[in-house]
Amino acid sequence: MSKKLRIGIIGTGGIAGPHMAAYKQFDNVEVVGGADIVPGKAKAFFEKWDVPDAQAFESAEELIKNVEMDGVSVCTYNTTHAECTIAALEAGLHVQCEKPMSFTLQEAVDMVKASKKAGKILTIGFQPRYSYIRKKVDHMIESGAIGKVYYIQSGGGRRRGIPGSTFVDAEKAGFGCLGDIGCYSIDECLHAVKYPRPLTVSAVATDYFGKNPKYWSGADTFNVDDFSVAFVRLEGDITFVFKQSWAMHADSLGDTLWLGTEGGIKIVNGFNYLNKPSQVMYFTDVNGLQIDSQMLPSMPFDPYASPSNEDAFTAKVRDFCDAIIEGRSAPIPGEEIIYNQAILDGIYRSARLKKEVEIEIPEL
Ligand SMILES: NC(=O)c1ccc[n+]([C@@H]2O[C@H](COP(=O)([O-])OP(=O)(O)OC[C@H]3O[C@@H](n4cnc5c(N)ncnc54)[C@H](O)[C@@H]3O)[C@@H](O)[C@H]2O)c1
Repeated sequence: MSKKLRIGIIGTGGIAGPHMAAYKQFDNVEVVGGADIVPGKAKAFFEKWDVPDAQAFESAEELIKNVEMDGVSVCTYNTTHAECTIAALEAGLHVQCEKPMSFTLQEAVDMVKASKKAGKILTIGFQPRYSYIRKKVDHMIESGAIGKVYYIQSGGGRRRGIPGSTFVDAEKAGFGCLGDIGCYSIDECLHAVKYPRPLTVSAVATDYFGKNPKYWSGADTFNVDDFSVAFVRLEGDITFVFKQSWAMHADSLGDTLWLGTEGGIKIVNGFNYLNKPSQVMYFTDVNGLQIDSQMLPSMPFDPYASPSNEDAFTAKVRDFCDAIIEGRSAPIPGEEIIYNQAILDGIYRSARLKKEVEIEIPEL
């Protein structure tokens, strides 16, 4: 492709900034327009980012109708991901949609159907996949180093970390902690084993911290989950124990674990993508001896960075652009993330019904 890739940004709030920052780094990409339903917000965004030629609109439809583009970043809050993504795909645009993929499972299914019909990329914004250590863990499991995986557990969680803003408004975010960081935990645990189909979920979700003015200043209006646990059965006789927390009286919900017939991998207190390297342990038996070893990068660079030292967020946006330019398929396909969404949907339903639920994924 000789001309520049033309990109639009739908939703010019918080996360649109890192998208813009990444696009601005690429010589072969130009942000040509954007839209936000808050009057004047898209215009102010482009002024702030010094992109005077980008056209600003107050609806995704107007942007799509009026500006020639190759693809868009959908950076709206969760409950409008589906409508914006489908409108863009139907107009023949490639889409990078922020995480979580959607609010309901049906929305996610409709998004994948629209992408298949249009023959365009639908990729979901899980940038931790580009973290160096996480890639190494994925490769290790894929190489067979721990044999057949039969148990997976998510770890980590925040002691105090309710994010506020649109994240705690059910009308905009759908769910709370589940949709904010729960979807990352599911992706971390299940991408490593190639996303087995989820079958059943039994879950509990609570809001003890968000609803308590002692811990959260917006307690009056807080209407989403701040903690959840789930027991998920996956195809292939794999058990997945999920936990996630925005707030709790503990420093961690424990380690992320993959247990296999030949070995195990443990991320102490779950992956830490933010400040310091995660401690990753590998366990196996060799000649009758139990071996414990620590996985460390074998090259002297930041273990969080990609080998080119690019941060995960920039790497994610670059991969979307390169996939369009090179005619590749979606780097993080909506078709795969449907299973992530199906688990979120199952947790949400099971927690409300207070019983185990079956996960049924509609035909694509
Ligand atoms: N990948 C990451 O690291 C990361 C980090 C933060 C947020 N996110 C995700 O990004 C999304 C947005 O989060 P945020 O913090 O930027 O929220 P935000 O509320 O700051 O911004 C969302 C913007 O979308 C606009 N909007 C909503 N519906 C729209 C529509 N139909 N058309 C046009 N504009 C619309 C809103 O007016 C708002 O300005 C969420 O899904 C969130 O989960 C991802």
